[in-house]
Amino acid sequence: MPKPIFVLNGPNLNMLGKREPAVYGTATLADIRQQVEKHAGVRGIATDFRQTNHEGELVDWVQGARDGAAGIILNAGALTHTSIALHDAIKAAEQPVIEVHLSNVFARESFRHHSYVAPAAIGVICGFGPHGYLLAIDAMVEHFTKKAA
Ligand code: DQA
Repeated sequence: MPKPIFVLNGPNLNMLGKREPAVYGTATLADIRQQVEKHAGVRGIATDFRQTNHEGELVDWVQGARDGAAGIILNAGALTHTSIALHDAIKAAEQPVIEVHLSNVFARESFRHHSYVAPAAIGVICGFGPHGYLLAIDAMVEHFTKKAA
């Protein structure tokens, strides 16, 4: 069985729908999961969609992708801007990572302009709301296609 793409979500993303709707919109994480599974499913891709509020758990999941996943779509929430441990885990996983943010982090506070994920990722998608996750699926498929060619 081909390995799934891990779609990993960090702290506070379980609050989507209720959390600052002017910034993050009204879709819940369950809504996003449904969209992702449908979008990936029609492309024949399996996904493993998860959320945690805990840095260590996210690090464990990224490490687990080394043998358990074909790639990672990662919205690490605020850990994006703080976690060297997450950066190191991504390097150790040796899997393609696409960083996703619902909001355009570059149009927000300056502390959101730095990412520890981006230097270890193949690309970054931000500012398109839940659609960004679907763009990331397409980008990952394109990445695999190019690699296989
Ligand atoms: C976020 C952006 C981060 O800066 C923030 O800490 C989040 C959500 C986004 O999806 O826009 O929790 O990753």
